[in-house]
Amino acid sequence: MIRRKDTMNKFVELISQEVSKAFTAAGYEGGYGIVTVSNRPDLCEYQCNCAMKAAKLFKKAPIAIAQDVAAQLNGNPMFLSVEAVNPGFLNFKLNACACKDYIEAMRTSERFGAWQEETPKTIVVDYGGPNVAKPLHIGHLRSAIIGESLKRIYRYCGNNVIGDIHMGDWGLQMGLIIAELAERQPELCYFDPDYTGEYPTEAPFTISELEEIYPAASAKSKVDEAFAEKAHTATFELQDGRRGYRAIWNHIMAVSVADLKKNYANLDVDFDVWLGESDAQPYIPAMLEDLKARGFATESDDALIMEVAEETDTKEVPPCILVKSDGATLYATTDLATMVQRMQDYNPDKMLYLTDKRQSLHFEQVFRAARKSGIVRPDTELQFLGFGTMNGKDGKPFKTRDGGVMRLERLISEITEFVHDKVQENQIVAEEERAATARLIAMAALKYGDLSNQPAKDYIFDLDKFAAFEGNTGPYILYTIVRIKSILSRYGKEADSLPIAEPVCSEQKELMLTLSRFSDNLSIAYRDNAPNVICAYLYDLAGSFNKFYHEVKILAETDQAKQEGYIALCRLTQRVLETCCDLLGFSAPEKM
Ligand code: ARG
Repeated sequence: MIRRKDTMNKFVELISQEVSKAFTAAGYEGGYGIVTVSNRPDLCEYQCNCAMKAAKLFKKAPIAIAQDVAAQLNGNPMFLSVEAVNPGFLNFKLNACACKDYIEAMRTSERFGAWQEETPKTIVVDYGGPNVAKPLHIGHLRSAIIGESLKRIYRYCGNNVIGDIHMGDWGLQMGLIIAELAERQPELCYFDPDYTGEYPTEAPFTISELEEIYPAASAKSKVDEAFAEKAHTATFELQDGRRGYRAIWNHIMAVSVADLKKNYANLDVDFDVWLGESDAQPYIPAMLEDLKARGFATESDDALIMEVAEETDTKEVPPCILVKSDGATLYATTDLATMVQRMQDYNPDKMLYLTDKRQSLHFEQVFRAARKSGIVRPDTELQFLGFGTMNGKDGKPFKTRDGGVMRLERLISEITEFVHDKVQENQIVAEEERAATARLIAMAALKYGDLSNQPAKDYIFDLDKFAAFEGNTGPYILYTIVRIKSILSRYGKEADSLPIAEPVCSEQKELMLTLSRFSDNLSIAYRDNAPNVICAYLYDLAGSFNKFYHEVKILAETDQAKQEGYIALCRLTQRVLETCCDLLGFSAPEKM
């Protein structure tokens, strides 16, 4: 197999190679040498169950096959022990030296020698998806958190990744704001159709005014039909290019985007491009002409639609509506045009979309339309990752105490305050560091709490649980990193160049074996879009480290070689833990 520079075979692959050779040498087939991590850690570290499978083909008792293979492995430097156990298991324990060699190679390789995509792919991750001028609410939170983590995982695995925020910046909310503003301040030059001068550079509203205008307008449109009509007309005129409305739109964008940037920066979520639905509009006319010309788009009741149903469908997949009878284009039209733009600008191998799973039908339709019409090339992968809902303790979508929609800013500040109180109680962190420390811990609590669930599942947001310093939580992981930082700082000498030593106790060996599984977990998280696999690995690694820490006296050790081996392992553990946290989008403070 071709490998990219600086990647190593996974440890389990190296072990499998030895076992495969033994199967072949004993007269069976090498393909049976599949080794896995032991599910009985009390008995062994790795195991192979394939003698049971080989038994059928070779018409021999599985235990006899296992014994033959074990005999071949006798004296192999990879293993401390190889046992054939009834009915036909092979149980392995690894040699201390083999562990040391592997972990030392990890320590000195870039990216710990972890698995990488053989040829880098260009991947667009479409996440965040906030709607301009509407406040960010927690519905957008999961898209940002999961998307950011997947973007980082994809990138770490060697790909060229473009994270696009894809703002909703072209819809009715813009018309609502314009109509409301026209009622409140009709004297503004934007509303004078005869005005030909330059428009002011300063917006006629602040972000807080904007956040008040939108809900007011939205509420009004529900009870006041004439106003709703005005908003629709304004939306249409804006999209048609009316100068004054375009100028207001530019103001709305400038004010909102500045606010969004602040909010996402607070979340440590960072996009490579800030494009939105409006950026796709220039591609729509030519795309529609082309779809019509090639017979993919057809007129139906004055609307323009595209059939996407397939014979094998078990559920009805309605056609994609591209243009409504009143001439308006829709969400699907914009998403298709965005694909046109992305193919032109990036020619990606994959596009990944993250929204609430309730949008799955929309993406099914759009993906089919794009495939059928060749808007994307046949080998461009289109993937939709629909996530579940963040619920409150009552099992219903998370709300504020008075039942309103929880704003993202408010949620973050509530978590931060909660954590701040704990940090203050502990009295470990100096006063001037407390706010920054609380922020880091809050991010870990929130993101780990979210990401440790499979994306598609709903979960319950429980602040007490997520922010606890013990248990399977973000703060517990940070606490473990802080513990290592403290050991290394008390050690006081340079730790980065110390080589890994052979383990001298079982806890040390177990920690090394857990470290060796970084690459395995990374590649699964990547393949399955599953940051939860990184969370589970972090929890395992923190657990292995803490066991080791409680078992050995690191700083009190008087044998220098032993101590240096411990310190080298602490430092590598810290680096791997921090890398995983970074893949999830948070980081550790100095103290907590
Ligand atoms: N703005 C949309 C919403 O709030 C999400 C956009 C997702 N991305 C996309 N390409 N459709 O639901």
